Amino acid sequence: MRLRLWPRSLAARTAILLLAGLVAAQAAGLGIEAIGRAGLQRLEQGRHLALRVMELYITVAKTPPAQRATALRELRLPAGITAQLDSEPPARMLVSPLPVQQLVRLNMALVPLPPALRPAEVVLLGSPAQEQMMIGLRLPDDPTQPDDPTLTRRQWLNVTAVLPAPRPWQDPDLLAAFLLMSAVAAALTGWAVVRLSAPVATLTAAADRLGEDVNAAPLPEVGPSEVTAAAAAFNRMAARLRRFVQDRTLLLAAIGHDLRTPITRLRLRAEFVADDELRAKMLADLDDLEALVTATLAFGRTATSREPAAPLDLAVLARTLLDEAADARPELAERLVYDGPEHLTVRARSTALKRALGNLVANAIAYGGSARIRLLPPEVAGAPVRIEIEDDGPGLPPGETEQLFDPFRRGEESRSRETGGVGLGLTIARDILRAHGGEVTLANRGEGGARASVRLPA
Ligand SMILES: Nc1ncnc2c1ncn2[C@@H]1O[C@H](COP(=O)(O)OP(=O)(O)OP(=O)(O)O)[C@@H](O)[C@H]1O
Ligand SMILES: [Mg+2]
Repeated sequence: MRLRLWPRSLAARTAILLLAGLVAAQAAGLGIEAIGRAGLQRLEQGRHLALRVMELYITVAKTPPAQRATALRELRLPAGITAQLDSEPPARMLVSPLPVQQLVRLNMALVPLPPALRPAEVVLLGSPAQEQMMIGLRLPDDPTQPDDPTLTRRQWLNVTAVLPAPRPWQDPDLLAAFLLMSAVAAALTGWAVVRLSAPVATLTAAADRLGEDVNAAPLPEVGPSEVTAAAAAFNRMAARLRRFVQDRTLLLAAIGHDLRTPITRLRLRAEFVADDELRAKMLADLDDLEALVTATLAFGRTATSREPAAPLDLAVLARTLLDEAADARPELAERLVYDGPEHLTVRARSTALKRALGNLVANAIAYGGSARIRLLPPEVAGAPVRIEIEDDGPGLPPGETEQLFDPFRRGEESRSRETGGVGLGLTIARDILRAHGGEVTLANRGEGGARASVRLPA
């Protein structure tokens, strides 16, 4: 499996880019700071070394030449410094002069000395990396006996000093400041990214809601100008969509409504047809036509209804539906069963939801001769409520359960039956349930009969 280093989410990508920039800027700043600190440390080292060397030199120079070696041996030298007396200045195997040497020379010159004690010559050498340094100071001849004939050789005090490399990073303050700055900047970055990407999630949710329900509440037009503009554009689009859907359904309803009068008139006229058989057929056709018109009007009403959502007891609704069905078909009363809790409340538009579930129950009764409503409360918090409407009929035509939800779609069975409907029942049921954020699907039960499964947000 390939490791996903580049995340897909906009927020994560933005955060990574910002943090990378932050790290680069911090590193550069830290580098500049370190260079400055290293310079300061060198300066301090140079000053310190110059003073130590001059102290040493003064002690040795004040001692008569013959006792200098002994005196030097007895001296306690600071750490990192060794010194010896020689007849020559330090060997020239090291390069010279480097900035630190010049610094040391400058500092040595600052130490006030009586002329007699001043070193006659100074040689300064350093290794290329400046971690080692040699300082040769020519000692004055015996100040008490300037013309000592025994003193034929010059004396040099050769000091070797080890200079530790500057360590600008080893400062706990610097590290703490860096960590604190990084943490604050990272926290701010995270906060900004989450805030900036939130409107995208809001827009996604709003688009989803609009897909389910054209009458969904508009997006609040607040926040930064780009977000406000996007929300306003989204709301304009939703309004146009709503008007479009409304126009279509109003048209449908208008046609349905206007058809009623001619149908009534035709029915009256059909009564005068002398041929019994012809009259019966005409009246049956007119019944069909009227059912079609009624269903079309109902469809128009669901699409345009603006009923508010309110707490609704699903258990009571289910039992009411079954009672009403039993009143209409008393011979089926035994086969209309409710199975579920005493009460289960959800927020819903009650007339609409009653129509949706009523259509499913009507189908179970019409095509399955029975209906069992099973109400299943959510198993975990946040899960949807499930409602299953089952029958013991012949079941659904295999392979086209989804198409049955299309408007005016009817099974062969239903078309040839006298009691067959219009083909809008499932369309309306699905419309309503989706507008509630739910869903309905159809399936055949393993043991025979059909099952409509409804999910509804709790
Ligand atoms: N429980 C069921 N058992 C078998 N077939 C079903 C069942 N429910 C629906 N159907 C099939 O699905 C078709 C579409 O159902 P739908 O409810 O949309 O329309 P209808 O019942 O024919 O008409 P309407 O409900 O508008 O009066 C039905 O004609 C029927 O063939
Ligand atoms: Mg139906």
